[in-house]
Amino acid sequence: MTNGPAIGIHDLSFATTEFVLPHAELARHTGAELGKYHVGLGQRSMSIPAEDEDIVTMAASAAAPVVARWGADRIRTVVLATETSIDQSKAAGIYVHSLLGLPSSARVVELKQACYSATAALQFAVGMVHRDREQFVLVIATDVSRYELGSPGEATQGAAAVAMLVGADPALMRIDEPSGLCTLDVMDFWRPNYRSTALVAGRESVSAYLQALEGVWKDYTERGGRPLEEFRAFCYHQPFTKMAYKAHRHLLSFTGAEVEEERLSSALGLTTAYNEVVGNSYTASVYLALASLLDHADDLTGEAIAFVSYGSGSVAEFFCGTAVPGYREHLRTAAHRAALDRRQPIDLTAYRALHSRTFPVDGGHYPTPSQTTGAYRLASLSGHKRVYERR
Ligand code: CAA
Repeated sequence: MTNGPAIGIHDLSFATTEFVLPHAELARHTGAELGKYHVGLGQRSMSIPAEDEDIVTMAASAAAPVVARWGADRIRTVVLATETSIDQSKAAGIYVHSLLGLPSSARVVELKQACYSATAALQFAVGMVHRDREQFVLVIATDVSRYELGSPGEATQGAAAVAMLVGADPALMRIDEPSGLCTLDVMDFWRPNYRSTALVAGRESVSAYLQALEGVWKDYTERGGRPLEEFRAFCYHQPFTKMAYKAHRHLLSFTGAEVEEERLSSALGLTTAYNEVVGNSYTASVYLALASLLDHADDLTGEAIAFVSYGSGSVAEFFCGTAVPGYREHLRTAAHRAALDRRQPIDLTAYRALHSRTFPVDGGHYPTPSQTTGAYRLASLSGHKRVYERR
């Protein structure tokens, strides 16, 4: 089903951090076999933010090339999706709006629902463009995933931002109807306001993801969605890339399809390249999977791509996107490669120091150490305010 005029993703760009911790370095200290990380979880390294990087600097870095290419005039709305919010009141997107010089005639808002909220933002954006086909909505998914040192979740940290421009007659991908939805009240992963690291019931969270997958597929099918065989590839939320394989295996057997290794790798193989070196970027992860697919696949024009978005707690959605003619001319493959290659490897001592840092809360003036070589940085905390600058 396509339903109505084409609306969808006009441009997509991602950014990540200054530093990267290879899992080989982590394994040397945890004593885990490297195979557990590389094969068992499907992770090779994780992006680690510098002291002067956060969700705002990553978001601005991801969105700047999009604004440079298409201009700011038609952007009427900015929706920043995150579960690593920096303020209980002010939307982080306002800092991004300012850093990018977006027009005052654009509204800015923040959305949260664990790793799902960027999908809500995308769908809301599609609805807004239906109302006014001239406008662009800038959707930015940006997150830093942090677990306790020494916890099972530690090997599944990461950080990235994905910016998507949503508009009519999209240059990359049409977003199709219907969506399959599933909301279930579960405590598989959460982060109370007073904590900087997430709490997670690891094994239960995997089961909760699979249960939600059944729910979204059932709803998608009941609403007249496509049969499974019509999808060329599946972009899953990837807290660790092996999760996509677990999920797809589960979906195939749930629908009575044959579970063959060849079928799994053809559906998923090209979607994991970025997440396996970035780590869990929470709400950005499913769109990093899309970036990986678009950047690595041969021509996908006219092909149906499935999206499975899962946010603990939980809300999930299954929907279809279709690659449009000419999409390959608009990809940012070289820039994406550069964003990964520019990261500097750090050792465990440096990683632990970054992980353990806390922000002062007394309202004094604290300049932030200058570490990032990226375009935007958190310059200081001053009078309880975050001060950002363009380098
Ligand atoms: N060679 C190959 N494979 C190995 C191995 C080796 N030497 N050693 C272990 N493995 C395999 C294990 O057999 C296991 O595979 P299966 O899952 O197929 O059984 C895999 O490596 C992982 O090993 P463990 O199950 O022992 O790992 P763990 O219990 O230490 O941690 C985890 C796994 C619970 C998922 C943990 O990483 C975690 O808590 N992660 C955070 C939560 C998470 O990501 N949940 C995902 C669903 S929720 C969600 O998606 C939202 C979100 O973003 C958080």
